[in-house]
Amino acid sequence: MGERIPIWDLPIRLFHWLLVADLAGLWWTATHDDLALHFKLGYAALALLLFRLLWGVMGSDQARFARFLKGPAAVLSHVRHVASPGPLPPQRGHNALGGWAVVVLLLVLLAQVGTGLFAVDDDGMEEGPLAHRVGASATKLARRLHHANFSLIQIVVAVHVAAVLFYLLVKRENLVRPMVTGWKRLTFLPGDGAGESDVGHGWVPLWRAGLLAAVAAGLVAGLVVFA
Ligand code: HEM
Ligand code: HEM
Repeated sequence: MGERIPIWDLPIRLFHWLLVADLAGLWWTATHDDLALHFKLGYAALALLLFRLLWGVMGSDQARFARFLKGPAAVLSHVRHVASPGPLPPQRGHNALGGWAVVVLLLVLLAQVGTGLFAVDDDGMEEGPLAHRVGASATKLARRLHHANFSLIQIVVAVHVAAVLFYLLVKRENLVRPMVTGWKRLTFLPGDGAGESDVGHGWVPLWRAGLLAAVAAGLVAGLVVFA
């Protein structure tokens, strides 16, 4: 049966599924011309992303960037494992390729929020809170980039979901369950790099996530109020 191991703490799981719901809302409000709500959901996305950046430095072991961002040798070794038949070695958290996928996802989402803050809509009625600080050509550019980058987000998310399905259907590894329950069953074999010697610190107390979430929300509120 294997050992039951904690993988994704509650803050990471909340971050992930709130982000998915938020993006659905952002897409809906943008395409149904509800920019007032679009802005609010956009600020929520920024707060979620800022929280994730803080959690990547001060959060639980598996959430930390330093823990899952590995060099090219580790990425290549993972790709070799993926390409060869049979199951993958047990993995506590993001694999070496998935770690960089997280960075790409966070960067394209931050770029979307960043361009939104400076964008003005087509009839000039609604503008992001920082648009008044730059000239008309910059707001037009921000709007163009906001549109173009959304296409990029759709591609990156499609690849992300396809990768999760690939692991599930081809590699028989269910990554979704830990992203829902937090836990994963792993069977360690002697010689597995991710075995008992790599137990990690587990999950840090939730009050720390509450504090960092408040910091992230406060930064966004400050940006909106003092823009
Ligand atoms: C708008 C759509 C989505 C976005 C923007 C998104 C974004 C992300 C991000 C940023 C992470 C990294 C988690 C972290 O360390 O903070 C992640 C991981 C993950 N996502 Fe998504 N996601 C989306 C949709 C989905 C969907 C629909 C599924 C389920 C089919 C899914 C399943 C997962 C899983 C299983 C992981 C963990 C992968 C691993 O074990 O390394 N995601 N996602
Ligand atoms: C990850 C976060 C965001 C996503 C996914 C997103 C997505 C979109 C999309 C898809 C559109 C274009 C709809 C169309 O084709 O007409 C749009 C338009 C717009 N967004 Fe966002 N947005 C985000 C964040 C923001 C933020 C934070 C702001 C500002 C506070 C913002 C301001 C705007 C404005 C002003 C427009 C209208 C541009 C126009 O009329 O062409 N967005 N957004």
